[in-house]
Amino acid sequence: MHPDLRYLSVLIVAAAMWSGAAHSTDLRAAILANPCAGCHGMDGVSPGTIPSINQLSADAIVAALKAFKSGERPGTVMDRIAKGYTDEEIQRIADYFQSLKK
Ligand code: HEC
Repeated sequence: MHPDLRYLSVLIVAAAMWSGAAHSTDLRAAILANPCAGCHGMDGVSPGTIPSINQLSADAIVAALKAFKSGERPGTVMDRIAKGYTDEEIQRIADYFQSLKK
């Protein structure tokens, strides 16, 4: 292969990787949201009696978590869980779940 072409193919691969990284999901949000999956399912579709959160908008998830956190909305477990996250993290988790919506 002509050396210039080899250089070009490296550039193309790098560009493809770069654009892939730019569009991938927010990894930190995915990690923050991971404990939610144990109860609400990997994609927000809960098994059993726990409410599914896959149909909620990011705004609705933020509102629910902040209400649990402040004690305005009583919960069995969510009040305790919500206290473990900052408001910024709650927003990122909510955006993450909304991004999973089909
Ligand atoms: C231990 C199980 C458990 C975990 C972990 C958990 N939840 Fe929940 N979630 C519940 C239960 C049970 C409810 C119903 C309210 C209650 O009893 O606390 C609920 C309610 C909710 C609601 C309100 C749903 C509605 O329809 O109003 C939202 C939103 C929510 N959870 C989001 C989350 C997010 C985001 C996380 C991760 C940060 C999370 N939950 C982690 C069990 C859990």
